[in-house]
Amino acid sequence: MTAEGSSQIDNVMQESRLFPPTPEFVAKAKINSADAYQTLYDASIQDTEAFWGKLAEEELHWFRPFETVYEKTENGVGWFVEGQTNISYNCLDAQIEAGRGDKVAFIWEGEPGDHRQLTYRELHREVCRMANGLKKLGIEQGDRVSIYMPMTPELPVAMLACARIGAIHSVIFGGFSAEAIAERNNDAEAKLIITADGGWRRGKVLPLKNIVDQALSKSPSIESCLVLRRTENDIQMQAGRDVWMHDLLDEVDEDCPATPLDAETPLFILYTSGSTGKPKGIKHTTAGYSLYTKMSFKWVFDYQEDDIYWCTADCGWITGHSYMVYGPLANGATVLLYEGAPNHPAEDRFWDIVERHKVTILYTAPTAIRAFIKWGDEHVEKHDLSTLRLLGTVGEGINPEAWIWYHEKIGAERCPIVDTWWQTETGGIMMSPLPGAIPTKPGSCTKPLPGIIPTIVDEEGNPVDTNHGGMLCISKPWPGMLRGIWGDEARHQEQYWSKVPGMYLTGDNARLDNDGYYWIMGRIDDVINVSGHRLSTIEVESALVSHPKVAEAAAVGRPDEIKGQAIAVFVTAKDAEAGDELRQELKLHVRKEIGALAVPDDLRFTAALPKTRSGKIMRRLLRDIAAGKEATGDTTTLEDFSVLAQLRQDDE
Ligand code: WTA
Repeated sequence: MTAEGSSQIDNVMQESRLFPPTPEFVAKAKINSADAYQTLYDASIQDTEAFWGKLAEEELHWFRPFETVYEKTENGVGWFVEGQTNISYNCLDAQIEAGRGDKVAFIWEGEPGDHRQLTYRELHREVCRMANGLKKLGIEQGDRVSIYMPMTPELPVAMLACARIGAIHSVIFGGFSAEAIAERNNDAEAKLIITADGGWRRGKVLPLKNIVDQALSKSPSIESCLVLRRTENDIQMQAGRDVWMHDLLDEVDEDCPATPLDAETPLFILYTSGSTGKPKGIKHTTAGYSLYTKMSFKWVFDYQEDDIYWCTADCGWITGHSYMVYGPLANGATVLLYEGAPNHPAEDRFWDIVERHKVTILYTAPTAIRAFIKWGDEHVEKHDLSTLRLLGTVGEGINPEAWIWYHEKIGAERCPIVDTWWQTETGGIMMSPLPGAIPTKPGSCTKPLPGIIPTIVDEEGNPVDTNHGGMLCISKPWPGMLRGIWGDEARHQEQYWSKVPGMYLTGDNARLDNDGYYWIMGRIDDVINVSGHRLSTIEVESALVSHPKVAEAAAVGRPDEIKGQAIAVFVTAKDAEAGDELRQELKLHVRKEIGALAVPDDLRFTAALPKTRSGKIMRRLLRDIAAGKEATGDTTTLEDFSVLAQLRQDDE
């Protein structure tokens, strides 16, 4: 087996390009120099509690003021504990009071091309009606409500309505199966599920209510099912259980004051997949999450009053919670919501939307960017994207070549890119450039946000040297941190708080470079150990993606008697040129980019990679395939099962 080397991870990727923001961007930016960032950051670290306390007083509405900023007790942590607030009040009532009643909150576009706009006043009214509807169905503070809906305005309305009365929402992404819904309903013991007859996806109806019906036969805690009419496909309504949303809301009052809620009142549960077994219900609470999403949105997106902000995520992910609903609305932003697929009716749908709605900030995922590159520049070039001023990415590391494409083709070399690193557990963005202040490097999430102290340690918990990879931890609590795993405190402690004492363990590897920039190197479990050298997946993948014929690549380790692990890579080529010649060319390319050490032993071409429903490559499954095993562990989050079958077939 391998030599007992250091537990640090070798850094083999060289990326030295530096992109400062343009003078035009800096001229308007709120935080507009590296010094301004440093001053803010230093103040946040010198007295972190005073820093958050002051912001909480200034930025949130309090029904009752808090006295303690942060405390740790036997029962967990508390932020602003004596205080009472309500996130729906902060997102709606407070905005109307600030004069934004007639400002557009949501611009919505359905996949078939239907449109709707809601001003803050209209959104407030819809949320109040929905909240009264929930009460009519017997929902009270503390009850859990599952939401399994298409991306229509009623989805954020349902979230905000729960928040308004202190019910805990659990949004389940509209691509999940009946099995996955039932598991989440049961774990949360949800009383109500909100759904729709269907949603539109690539021109077809996704029959959401039918899927819910199957789930409900295995969800004993659910008492009622509230149904939005969207696609008008035939569905069954079960008397005594199922209620049409329009019938319910027809009869309710438009007035529903927000309930004053204790700061640590649970706001939502969001299930995220574990690498094995059962999904984890990550729990977030009211006040700390409100403050952290509000501030991080303002800082990272350099939010300006007239921005048209589009986050292409789905409300079913944490990005949809923090940066489509709570963060932007708490800042009074105008948010674009789009229901459907990026390639319907054609591959230029996103750019068409940017042009028509004059989007200024676009926040999307590397998986989407790699798809756009594969689809070809002609789809982009058809459209006027000159309103864009800022771009963002989230969800995975972005390969430098994809970053450069995004910068040149979408941003016209004018828009800064914020590569935002964070997790469902962190509630909000933890590391990202502040776009007017921090020059960017392709592939680096650059610097921590105010109040956040990243620390990189080795297996023994000792800090690693600059330019060496290790486990990324956060060494001080922050308001947006998770408050637990629903119903499983032992797992919460074990997974995040016990391995490195006194710190939050993120589960990712990272390194810090000489300029104080952070580079995320992938999940701890994904490290490849070749002859005692520990390599990160993203570095090998980025070398492959930098070849003009490669669209996507995933690198994993497979057992090797001599080297410990050998490198196996799965490559999606841009054109159908996959074959021995390209295989040789790619191996040489990796040798040139990184060195002999990282040359893949095994290079397989595949039409598609297995991904989670949120677009992350599932390397865990590829590891099994590379080792010639059946893929094991939790596959409920896998987006397309045919990909696995295809990969296995290629193996034979
Ligand atoms: C990965 C998404 C590199 C990382 C908000 C993290 C990233 C996990 C980045 C959380 C990024 C997310 N660069 N890796 N900018 N953003 N990740 O819970 O491994 O869906 O731990 O939250 O995605 O995924 P989650």
